[in-house]
This record gives sequence, C-alpha cells and structure tokens, in this order.
Amino acid sequence: MSALIKNPFNHDLPPLETPLVNVQLDGQWVKVPKGLNVIEVAKRFGKFIPHYCYHPKLSIAGNCRMCLFEMGMPKLDANRKPIMDAEGMPVINWLPRPQIACATQATEGMAIRTSSKLVKDCQEGVMEFLLINHPLDCPICDQAGECRLQEYAYDFGKGRSRFVEEKVKKPKRVDFGPRIILDDERCILCSRCIRFAREIAKQDVIGFVNRGSYSTLTVYPGKVFDSNYSLNTVDICPVGALTSKDFRFKMRVWFLREAKSICTDCATGCNIIIGSRENVVYRLTPRVNEEVNSHWMCDQGRLGFHYIHSKRRVTEPASHLNGSLFPLEWSEALRTVAQRLMEFPPSEIAFLVSARLTCEELYLVKKLMETLGKGTEIFSEIVPRKGVADGLLRSADLNPNTKGAISIGIGKEGTRIEELKNKIRAKEINCLFAIHENPEEVGIQEDILSYLSFYVWQGLIPGPAVHKANVLLAGASFAEKSGTMINIAGRLQKLHKAILCPGRAREDWRILRDLLLLVGLKERVFEKISDVFDAMSKEIDLFDSLSWNTVGDLGIDLSQKLKNRSIL
Ligand code: SF4
Ligand code: SF4
Ligand code: FES
Repeated sequence: MSALIKNPFNHDLPPLETPLVNVQLDGQWVKVPKGLNVIEVAKRFGKFIPHYCYHPKLSIAGNCRMCLFEMGMPKLDANRKPIMDAEGMPVINWLPRPQIACATQATEGMAIRTSSKLVKDCQEGVMEFLLINHPLDCPICDQAGECRLQEYAYDFGKGRSRFVEEKVKKPKRVDFGPRIILDDERCILCSRCIRFAREIAKQDVIGFVNRGSYSTLTVYPGKVFDSNYSLNTVDICPVGALTSKDFRFKMRVWFLREAKSICTDCATGCNIIIGSRENVVYRLTPRVNEEVNSHWMCDQGRLGFHYIHSKRRVTEPASHLNGSLFPLEWSEALRTVAQRLMEFPPSEIAFLVSARLTCEELYLVKKLMETLGKGTEIFSEIVPRKGVADGLLRSADLNPNTKGAISIGIGKEGTRIEELKNKIRAKEINCLFAIHENPEEVGIQEDILSYLSFYVWQGLIPGPAVHKANVLLAGASFAEKSGTMINIAGRLQKLHKAILCPGRAREDWRILRDLLLLVGLKERVFEKISDVFDAMSKEIDLFDSLSWNTVGDLGIDLSQKLKNRSIL
C-alpha cells in the first residue's frame, strides 16, 4: 500500500516481508509481524487499548499514558533459553510495572494483558489525572459526541471526581490560524497536533510552553498555523481543543448523516465523508484510504463545498425569451433542447464538457453525441483547470476526472478550445451545449456566444453571459450525485449521493438519459446509476468486467490499463 502522500511513519502497516513472531495476547497465542506496535497488535485481534497521543502515522510521543498494559517476557533458564510449557510455548514472566503500548513493539514470546486488574487501575488513574483540570465543556463543546475524553471517561474512568481544588484556567478561544481556534483548557497535551504540524504539514509553528499543570499549547510568537493541511489537526485532536472556525457551533455531530464519497476539488480524489443534515452539507472530513490520501485531506478541498448552497445556484430549468428568464417544466425544457439539437447538422454542434462530471455522465454525453452524430463525429472538448501540486496531496490538475474524460473519449485537456472559438466565430458551429462549464471562463465571451443560433447551459452557478443561453438545465453538485471518477493515479473511485438536489434541479445523468431517449436512443432505459455503469463496462474496455459493486468503497486500481492506453 502506498498513499499518494508519504507518511513518515506507518506504525499500523509493517512492510509485507516482515517476519512473523508469536505473541500471547490476553492468554491466546497469535502470530503478528515482528515490530508491530502493541496497540495495533491488540486491534488486529479485536481488542482495544485506549490511547490519546498515539497516531499510526505520527512519531511516538508516549506522553498521555492512556495505553498502559501489562507486559510479560519469556522466563529464561540458567542458559538464558526460554522455559517451555507443556504445549511448547514459553512460560511468561510478568513485569511488575505497566508499560506503554504505543512505545512497545511485538517481539518473539512477548505477552500482553489488555484488561487485567493492574491495567484497569492504571486506566482509571490516568483518566482521573486527565480530568483534573479539564473544564466540563461537553454541553458547549464541538467535539461532544466524538470526543475520546468523553468516551474513555465512560469506558475506562471512575465515574466520579475526588478533586476539590480550583481548576487551572487556561486561555480560551485562541486564534491559531485562519481556520483554527484553540480552547487551551480542553487540551490534554497529547502533542498530536504539534507532531502533525512538524512531520506532515511541515510547518513547525506550534509547541508547549510552561510546566506541570500550567503547560499550555501555543503558536510561536508572531506565527500562525496557516498550512493548507491545518484542519487535519482538528480531526486528530482527541478532545475539542482544536476546532474548525468553519464548522464550530454549526451542528451537533450526532445529527449529521454521513455519506462516503470523494473530494472533487483536485485530481487526487481524497476519500471523504460528507456530513449533512436536512439537505445541507456541514462538513467534509477525510476517510482513510491507504492508496490515496491515508488519513488526511487539504483545507482547500475540505472547505470547498460551500458553493453548493450558493444563492446564485440555478435550481430549476428555464428559458430566456426577449431577455427575461422563464421557468420551464422539465419535460418542456428537455423536449425543446432535444428538438433543437436534432435540427442542426452534426458538424454544427459542439459540446463543452466538464471533467468534473462522473464517468457515467461523460458516458451519457458520449452516447448523446453519437446518437445525434449518426456516424459523424461531433465536436467536444473538456475545460482544463491547472493549479500547482504541493508535494503532499494536491494535484496540479484541479479537475477530478480528467482521466475519465480522456478514457471515455470526450476531450483532450482543452487543446481544442481555440478551435471551438474560431469555429463559432466563423459560424461553422451554431449550436453549443455547455455542461457544467461557463464558456466565458475559457474566453468564449458574450460577443462570441452571440454568433450561436442555439446555446444550452447545464450546471450549477452560471457565468456573466448566462443571458445568452436559450435554455438552462439545473444540474447537481458532487454531494447530490452518485457515480465514479478516475483520479490522477488511475484509481476508479465512487461518489455517493449525500443530499437531494435543491429546488427542481436534477442529477445530471438523469437529464442526459432523458435527452438521449428524446433524441432517439430507445434500446436502453437506464433506471439507476448502476445501469449506466453496467452499460459502460460492456462498451468501454477500460471498464471491462467491472460492476458498480466491485468498485467498492476504496476504489479499484486501473493504472496498468491506463498506462497501456497511454492515458497515464
Ligand atoms: S490541542 Fe489537541 S491534539 Fe493538540 S496537544 Fe492538545 S489535545 Fe493534543
Ligand atoms: S488534495 Fe485534492 S482531492 Fe484531496 S482534499 Fe485537497 S483538493 Fe480534495
Ligand atoms: S498512547 Fe501511549 S502514551 Fe499516549
């Protein structure tokens, strides 16, 4: 497994060739890779060692002491050889003091107890210590519902406090950076955020100051934590000390409906969870996929969803007549578009298509072009979006499905846009269908659009020359649709619908499917998105022998097939 981001540590994933050792786990002998972290040993066999400061992708700090366990090693004879029991396994010598699991690695003959009396006493003691100065903020804390302190207090704590002194009060609502607020008194000093900033975000600007109970997390004087990865610290902070300015106080996490999907802000396709309630998206959080983004995502992608609730969104089909916009019924809008498209010779039609569409949508666009073209190729191109790769997760390609669009044969990364402009000006192309793109953004301005006899625009937020569109079709955002996309590394991954489209907007594949039926493709009726995928897998050999279900939550690697086709 190799994520696109290089983690400095992979305590949970030792290399495949690591030899196995015998370890006794709560009385049971098991085989695990040599050197595997003891927290991970327990996890592999369904046991849980509570922990705060340990994170599988960060260096080991060993400072929270929550992971204490009882450890034993083989009893040795006079020749320093292990003494064996009747079953041929080593007799165990238990150490009198508990050890920390995060800083201990599996060795031959090691024994682990995760729930003995000693371990339970240690867990209760550590919880009591951690709660001494922790404010009782749960009712107003954003982390309530997914806070490790809250959860462990129930599972491993004493359930009461013996502390009668004044709690130490630490700073509240400290501005940590453009996207993060710190409530210092909630911090349990686990140092995960400090290690993340140093080791992964590579912005070493946070650390602890002062001592003992007065120890405080702070950002270095004159600095701000403004890394494009800063919000990952909010995810990994085990308590509600670090909160996202964007999400704070907006929604209780237990009200959120979670849908597994992928980020569509760049070609990396980080795996995410869309948290929504009543058709409003409140947050995007990373979902672990060791082939893509590991545990992380960038802030830009995480916060890049607000446009889907923009007031400027087109939420119903409409037509422009004498400069005014009139809402239409879907049947009327689609009939008008289909009829007009069929009036033009195929050589006069052009499709300007977005590489932010799913493979299924692109496949239906292709079908539409083929049906209208009747053997003649119809002009089509995708709009490129270029950024700068940051060496971590962000790709230079800001379209999430360029590889899909090229594979399906829709466009060639924007190389034909100049040609399109010239053809419109020369009246060689008289009908333009722009799908999730505003032609103005690539220099096809109002004056050029005026040359067209018919212009259909399908999408979310129209550009300034929208009044040039004869018909507007209200499409869906990434959170409102299911489908697949191929990321920069050639991985086919799924989006899942999290919310419904606003107003009378519709999923784009349904709009395209209905248009297809109207322009004459009768032999296939797609009822659900998996029907489109199945058709695609039968017709396009890249998807050969795949089905909607086999793609799974973590996607499928198509890189070899794409390399063979020189697309990767
Ligand atoms: S802010 Fe959170 S992650 Fe950082 S040290 Fe404190 S508890 Fe740990
Ligand atoms: S790296 Fe790209 S895909 Fe990942 S979260 Fe950022 S914008 Fe989204
Ligand atoms: S997880 Fe082991 S000491 Fe914190």
